[in-house]
Amino acid sequence: MVGKTVIVGVTGGIAAYKAAELVSSLVKKGLNVHVILTKAALDFITPLTLETLAKNPVLVDEPTGSQGIYVPHIDLALKAELFVVVPATANTIAKIATGIADNLLTSTILATKAPVLLAPSMNVNMYENPITQKNIEFLKSIGFHFIEPEEGFLACGTVGKGRLPAIPVILEEIERLLCLKKDFQGKRVIVTAGGTREAIDPVRYIGNRSSGKMGFAIAKEAYKRGAQVTLIAGNTTVEPPQGVKLIRAFSTEKMRDEVLKVFPDADVVIKAAAVADYKPKTVEQSKIKKGEQNLTIELCPTVDILKELGKIKDKQILVGFAAETDQVAMNAKKKLEEKNLDLLVANDVSKEGAGFEVDTNIVSILYRNGQVEEFPLLTKAEIATLVLDRIAALPRFECQVKES
Ligand code: CTP
Repeated sequence: MVGKTVIVGVTGGIAAYKAAELVSSLVKKGLNVHVILTKAALDFITPLTLETLAKNPVLVDEPTGSQGIYVPHIDLALKAELFVVVPATANTIAKIATGIADNLLTSTILATKAPVLLAPSMNVNMYENPITQKNIEFLKSIGFHFIEPEEGFLACGTVGKGRLPAIPVILEEIERLLCLKKDFQGKRVIVTAGGTREAIDPVRYIGNRSSGKMGFAIAKEAYKRGAQVTLIAGNTTVEPPQGVKLIRAFSTEKMRDEVLKVFPDADVVIKAAAVADYKPKTVEQSKIKKGEQNLTIELCPTVDILKELGKIKDKQILVGFAAETDQVAMNAKKKLEEKNLDLLVANDVSKEGAGFEVDTNIVSILYRNGQVEEFPLLTKAEIATLVLDRIAALPRFECQVKES
């Protein structure tokens, strides 16, 4: 983290005085800190305080006149490795959300490609107002980061959500954002998620209990780490992550077609989808009517998408998931070899806390050289992180980096 450049924006709220502690802490951690104040912030804190702590000039306005080629809102926007706005008022959040660049702070944010972290602090009614909430949701959806305000006594005399969290909480988030791994930058990653459905007639299908949570967590993590992600999802019960290209494919056949379209350009394919192994041999064109007799539906095998990819793979790294209930290690090893995979993430879905619909899983990762890593109960987000760590550590991943 040492030596990275952070721009701290301070807007006109009572919590502006806390920006001094933040700037001082960042400098102590060895960061290069620049501060931009809005005019309203000047009523709450002086530039001299922040300048002394930051050891860099504090800016409020763009310098006027022809003073060479130094243009702060572009220069600082390029320099920034992280932008933090502490506190962020409803007014500044609204300006950022609508692209209004009428002061140095908002114009620099508009011009930066660095991640931006906003710490809202205001009266509870202003915070909870649907306008503010809509602005925050929109900014989150395009990748802005937020620190939730805390509940408590507010300077305006009311009680509610709107207090700036303690500076150590903000510092922790800053450290997390600055240390985010970007090891998948430039990689094209395909993730499949959810369960496929095989039609019986126009109203019925054969499906499974997959929620899509594991695949979505992987897609989200890959995106965070810089990958260009295509997420091909069957039936899912949770919201897909932002920032990825989402393609819906409900049947195995459709999922196969969509995966094959993007496979030639992919670097990594992670097949977390629970794909149906069988489908009705014939799909009835009309709804099957209720009768007195038993009904038999003849099933035929679906195509094994991953096995097909294993046969045609070139530079691609292939990662499969195996849901097992018996003889996990033996079955998983067989799948790894038969499907020509680089890694296989196996889980015993019969264990408590593992498998479908829950937020946790208990997995082991199998490698081509016979190595097996076993993990305790972890959240699906944690598993996504370690699966991507393992992929990034593969020698084939390194080679892809050298080629590109
Ligand atoms: N898979 C696939 N196409 C299929 C079946 C499975 O691409 N028709 C993929 C899954 O997405 C997963 C891996 O293969 O990454 C293993 O899936 P799993 O259901 O555990 O194993 P199967 O090969 O279907 O074998 P079985 O159901 O008999 O355990």
